[in-house]
Amino acid sequence: MSVDDQKRAVAEAALEFVRPGEVLGVGTGSTANHFIDLLGERFAGRVPACVSSSEASTDRLRELGFKVIELAEVDSYSIYVDGADEFEPGLAMIKGGGAALTSEKIVSSLAEQFICIVDASKRVDVMGAFPLPVEIIGMAARAVSRALTDLGGEPVLREGVVTDHGNPIIDVHGMRITDPVVLEGEIEAIPGVVTCGLFARRPADVVLMGTDQGVQRFGG
Ligand code: 5RP
Repeated sequence: MSVDDQKRAVAEAALEFVRPGEVLGVGTGSTANHFIDLLGERFAGRVPACVSSSEASTDRLRELGFKVIELAEVDSYSIYVDGADEFEPGLAMIKGGGAALTSEKIVSSLAEQFICIVDASKRVDVMGAFPLPVEIIGMAARAVSRALTDLGGEPVLREGVVTDHGNPIIDVHGMRITDPVVLEGEIEAIPGVVTCGLFARRPADVVLMGTDQGVQRFGG
């Protein structure tokens, strides 16, 4: 099974969590794109509205006929479905490889359940091999980089990328993240940091992972 087949398989498995008649939170990335496409095939007319975590996902949802509403129009929803760049046994994740981490953290925070959909390459024992994305305010780049170096990482500005919120991203290499909850708090406390790509204080509730043997479920 190719990596893309695994992504499509978990996107399909996530459809079981979709509740017809309810607002749905939708993530960003190639796995989330499979989910959106399958949603269009199987749930057209049965999801009253979606809350989206990026302009790219909003466009894709609208092309398939889904209504996309502003976050300010809802208090909460049952389900948020999104991919991840890495996840570990506690279901904490690194996200933001697609630069949508800030909206992903906000949109997922209003969901009762975060359903994470990933191919098998995303499973790790200790996170950090994937460079940790950190969205920052541009004027703070130098100061934030220094603080991230003090925390043991090697910060690299992501060239040519600006987020939906108009901010740059620093990717932090060389981290061995043994306490993701603490590190998420430490990074988000640095002045000039908008969002750290660690999703640990609020991890996934369920991870659906594609394997050659089928979809493996963690959590829930
Ligand atoms: C975007 C993300 C994505 O969920 C993450 O990068 C995984 O992407 P993909 O599904 O393409 O492997 O966090 O900001």
